[in-house]
Amino acid sequence: MRVTVTAGDPLTAEADLLVLGLWEEEPPAPPVADLIEPGDWSGKAKQTLLTYPRGVIPARRVLLIGLGKRSSPDIDLLREVAAIATQRARDVKVERFVCALPVVPEHTPETVAAALTEGSLLGNYRFLAYKTDIKPEERHDIDELTLITLPDAAEEATRGVARGGAVARGVNLARDLANLPPNVLTPAQLAERARELAIAFDLPVTILGPAEMREQGFGGILAVGQGSANEPRFIVIEYGAHDTDAPTICLVGKGMTFDSGGISIKPAENMDAMKMDMSGAAAVLGALHAIAELRLPLHVVALIGAAENMPGASAYRPGDILKTLSGKTIEVLNTDAEGRIVLADALTYAQRYNPTAIIDLATLTGAIGVALGPHAIGLFANDDTLAQRLLRAGEAAGERAWQLPLWQPYREMVKSEIADVRNAAGRQGGAITAAAFLNAFVGDYPWAHLDIASTAWTDSKPKAYQPKGATGVGVRLLVQALRNWTE
Ligand code: BES
Ligand code: MN
Ligand code: ZN
Repeated sequence: MRVTVTAGDPLTAEADLLVLGLWEEEPPAPPVADLIEPGDWSGKAKQTLLTYPRGVIPARRVLLIGLGKRSSPDIDLLREVAAIATQRARDVKVERFVCALPVVPEHTPETVAAALTEGSLLGNYRFLAYKTDIKPEERHDIDELTLITLPDAAEEATRGVARGGAVARGVNLARDLANLPPNVLTPAQLAERARELAIAFDLPVTILGPAEMREQGFGGILAVGQGSANEPRFIVIEYGAHDTDAPTICLVGKGMTFDSGGISIKPAENMDAMKMDMSGAAAVLGALHAIAELRLPLHVVALIGAAENMPGASAYRPGDILKTLSGKTIEVLNTDAEGRIVLADALTYAQRYNPTAIIDLATLTGAIGVALGPHAIGLFANDDTLAQRLLRAGEAAGERAWQLPLWQPYREMVKSEIADVRNAAGRQGGAITAAAFLNAFVGDYPWAHLDIASTAWTDSKPKAYQPKGATGVGVRLLVQALRNWTE
């Protein structure tokens, strides 16, 4: 679906479907008032009413949608409203529809257009690649959404559409990757998808296989991957390398294409969900897609450790001691705490770029769900400025993060008697000790860790722009944070 902008009057637009957002407590004026029974409409947030003007105005259908109270405008509500409208447009099978850009107090037309575009494209997302049993009509896809603006807002709105579109395409890429089944999206396939992205934007890409990783000493990723017939990969894509003045941000993603737990095997129930254990990697690739589309003036390095955690005959075991890329040793106590081992090598590699900041994203612990549930990303950092940046960006982008501590006593909990660190430290404070483990591999670089284990997947449909399955969480936060960095 394309999103375009045109200046004009929505009430004179020729359209199969016109969407009008109306505020609560502001009854519609003629001619819109002539389309409804006043008692049927309140304008409460997300209320919808589909009407048939029959010549009252040129549009064939008008969908009224409630924006809530004008006195408390809400950007996330605009995303939801756009998603609801898009789904209704799909239901009535129009090829294109138009939507009046509402004038929202306290927000620029750019912000409003970005939110509507984002919501519409996110709400339009479906993962149908493996559905062979649905009728072609059910696959109906909309060609175009046109936002109609006041003449003096068109230019700003156009910028908003570009931004919201880039973000949504990034999120939807991340969703696609995380929704793909683990027999299809193996580490090698994840690397291929990364290569395709790099080629599309003409970015240099490096993909290391087991032989190269062995040569260079990636003892963490190799150990985690050695129990699977699907060999591990290490993926590097660089964006903006030529811009030598720009800050260098390393984005590191956990790319476990399937996490069975390995020898410390997981219970059968819900193990299928562990196909999403590469959601950190997906978010990094989605963000990179958006950053490249927006041509942000930054040097961004995407680094992904991709592996499959399986209990094969050559699998690593509890008791093993691994030598990582950093030279540090890890005592393996639980092979299901594999993400931190993979990230250890990736975080070490990131330091080669002498980065301004390292940000990793990982579905790292079940414990973060115990702490925060599905409504917040767990944030950990060794640098308060970076933490604040990410907290603010999450707030603005509608993907909230919440910071947890990394005090010295937690770091003590991951020390080993016979190696430098141990990969598991009991149930208590599980998300924190996982982060404390990562902290041992970032040197003195400003670093933040986003634990997205409880936010990367949803079995319900919490918002109209968030269908069941992979959420693509992290992309919106990252793009917002990196945009702010350029200001
Ligand atoms: N991939 C899991 C974490 C996870 C759990 C992601 C639920 C998404 C949903 C991770 O590799 C893992 O297994 N962590 C263990 C660590 C423990 C063994 C120390 C966990 O959280 O139980
Ligand atoms: Mn695991
Ligand atoms: Zn895992």
